[in-house]
Amino acid sequence: MNIKWKEFPRKAKRGPQVILPKDAAIIAAYTSLESGNKVVDAGTGSGWLAAYLAKIVAPKGELITYEHRPEFAKLAKKNFKRFGIKNIKLKEKDIYKGICEKNLDLITLDLQKPWKVISHAEKALKENSYVVVYSPQITQALEFVNALEDSKLKFEKTIEILERKWKIKGKVARPEHRMLGHTGFLTFVRKLTK
Ligand SMILES: C[S@@+](CC[C@H](N)C(=O)[O-])C[C@H]1O[C@@H](n2cnc3c(N)ncnc32)[C@H](O)[C@@H]1O
Repeated sequence: MNIKWKEFPRKAKRGPQVILPKDAAIIAAYTSLESGNKVVDAGTGSGWLAAYLAKIVAPKGELITYEHRPEFAKLAKKNFKRFGIKNIKLKEKDIYKGICEKNLDLITLDLQKPWKVISHAEKALKENSYVVVYSPQITQALEFVNALEDSKLKFEKTIEILERKWKIKGKVARPEHRMLGHTGFLTFVRKLTK
């Protein structure tokens, strides 16, 4: 049964930690992602980021997502099916071993050792296109950026997006006492050879 796309943040299943809309949206905006683009994403996990980006590149663009653990591949496929997302191809592969696709507009990485993908990303990306790394720990972002030396991928920025909800009712207009304090750091690097 298909569930309406608008219900995704509330009804999509979660296995491994997911990338939330506040981070997915900024990835799409800063990389100028658009309909028709071709994207590689890894690891798939619960498929949240993959689903958001696939929706943006639809109907002619495609998103290929790599996941090496069969149980998460199964969960993500279930999410894609339930929400009727058709332009996603899930590959049960280890992305550290290589990326088969070429001429990519974007690569997104949400896995422990993103620096192991640098040489593959250099070959798979179009000129001027981005790799965006999502890292829960700043030490992972640091290791990734330090590993870029002599690479065609040039560091642009590392950012953190904070979303604070407000309570608005009657005369009450103030931030909620609790907030989601931290999700992950986003590191943007760009293939620039000229
Ligand atoms: C935190 S989850 C990704 C969540 C996902 N971005 C989302 O929004 O739902 C990280 C995933 O990366 C997968 N992974 C880790 N290393 C990998 C590799 N070398 N190749 C493919 N998948 C990998 C893990 O199995 C896990 O499912």
